[in-house]
Amino acid sequence: MSLKIGDIAPDFTQESTAGEIRFHEWAGDDWVVLFSHPADFTPVCTTELGSTAKLQADFDQRGVKLVVVSVDPVEDHRTWINDINETQQTSVTFPILADADNKVSSLYDMIHPNEDETSTVRSVFIIDPEKKIRAMITYPKSVGRNFDEVLRVIDAMQLTDRRSVVCPANWQPGDDVIVAPSVSDPDVLQEKFPRGYTELRPYLRMTPDPEH
Ligand code: BEZ
Repeated sequence: MSLKIGDIAPDFTQESTAGEIRFHEWAGDDWVVLFSHPADFTPVCTTELGSTAKLQADFDQRGVKLVVVSVDPVEDHRTWINDINETQQTSVTFPILADADNKVSSLYDMIHPNEDETSTVRSVFIIDPEKKIRAMITYPKSVGRNFDEVLRVIDAMQLTDRRSVVCPANWQPGDDVIVAPSVSDPDVLQEKFPRGYTELRPYLRMTPDPEH
């Protein structure tokens, strides 16, 4: 069964570079980015984990934990982390799961046999504190992901959870947002959007980012 946005992220227990992880317990009340890569000691993956490690403080600031899925063993992960730290000038501190039995990769449908029969593709699951899957991104083996985009999506979802807005294409924090189509009561509009809004169409009402 393939996972969908809004589903509860499947729980699991798996070995990792930080010891055994019981996923839901480990996630606690934080957001989680659970992401897979094809294999240790491969070039694109090395740059991806390096880039993510450099953004660790940005994920911390948003209350987001990172955890990586890889089908290689813990000893390989540990050796490879040294390579990542050295070549990417960073320090990987998030856990990497040792998913040799494909427990997590199968639960999250991360092996796409027409891409590769045994290794995982580049999947990203963004999971909220209620353990709901809020976003999914899937890339092929040949293309590294943009982890600034992962942060942007988290910023957008956290803002839309707090305010009655939705975020337009290419939105960045501070840019104008769209008044949620569900809000129509004039009193509610006045209360929620004291700086007003511009009605380009009845369904397209632009307003300043309410948190900037
Ligand atoms: C890489 O991360 O560079 C990679 C992984 C699997 C196949 C090809 C490239």
